[in-house]
Amino acid sequence: MLIRKIIYLIETIYSLLMSTDMQIKKDFQNRHISNDKIRKIINGLSDNGYYLIEGYYSNELCNNIKLEIDKIIADPKNKFLVTNKESNDFRQYGADRISKLIREYKQDNFLLNLCETYLGYKSKAYFTLSNKVIANSKVKFGSGGGWHRDNTTVKQFKSMIYLNDVDNNNGPFQIVSGTHKKSSLIDSIIFSDIKSNQDRINNESLKKLLSKKYNYKIKTITGSKGSLLIFNSFAIHRGSKLNNNERYAITNYYFPNFYINEYKELLDKKFNLPGVD
Ligand SMILES: [Fe+2]
Repeated sequence: MLIRKIIYLIETIYSLLMSTDMQIKKDFQNRHISNDKIRKIINGLSDNGYYLIEGYYSNELCNNIKLEIDKIIADPKNKFLVTNKESNDFRQYGADRISKLIREYKQDNFLLNLCETYLGYKSKAYFTLSNKVIANSKVKFGSGGGWHRDNTTVKQFKSMIYLNDVDNNNGPFQIVSGTHKKSSLIDSIIFSDIKSNQDRINNESLKKLLSKKYNYKIKTITGSKGSLLIFNSFAIHRGSKLNNNERYAITNYYFPNFYINEYKELLDKKFNLPGVD
């Protein structure tokens, strides 16, 4: 057991040293963060792994997008809708290719600026996910299907808008603050049994990490309708299970341009995106 942990540790340290951050010169290595608002958000994101802005979208805009989402879900000809039965989650990857309002969100320049400032690379939102999760006592999970990292690259950027009020009962986003940092990969091996290349995390493994390292805390992010949440999806996170009502959200999936150029086909296939960008 100990030998295995030591091997994982050596592998992790090696992969961190060889990671993309080290290999590719960043496009914005010394980018001047031009205004206080952006600087404040980026600092929050770096310190905590997330940042919440209330009232980013108006009630009216949220209502109109919710109508679009309901239309997408109800369309019998839609072959691209993913119904996740374990969480009663109706997910449309590439909803931006169907709805004009969602496409406008994907093309949001303020968010792109934040993303590029945070990642340091020319980037883009490759697609938008719209989803509606409905409470059901028989299901196991909330949105996202349990605790996970989106992937094990240490810096990722995602933005999500709650289209209805989200409180503790209707599936708020949860993040394990502290796990957005590189060092969490090392702690995960030493204090738990989470490997550095592991993206799905079971409850027992997470419990071990939380009980041994008190600087990791589960943070539940509730927000009123129209709230914008940006987060580093390397951090361990999930949508919590709904006790009642429903939750509508739209989420932009950002990637550096070099990544999209290299993995476009893989992304199209993995997310079963409708049409061509
Ligand atoms: Fe995720």
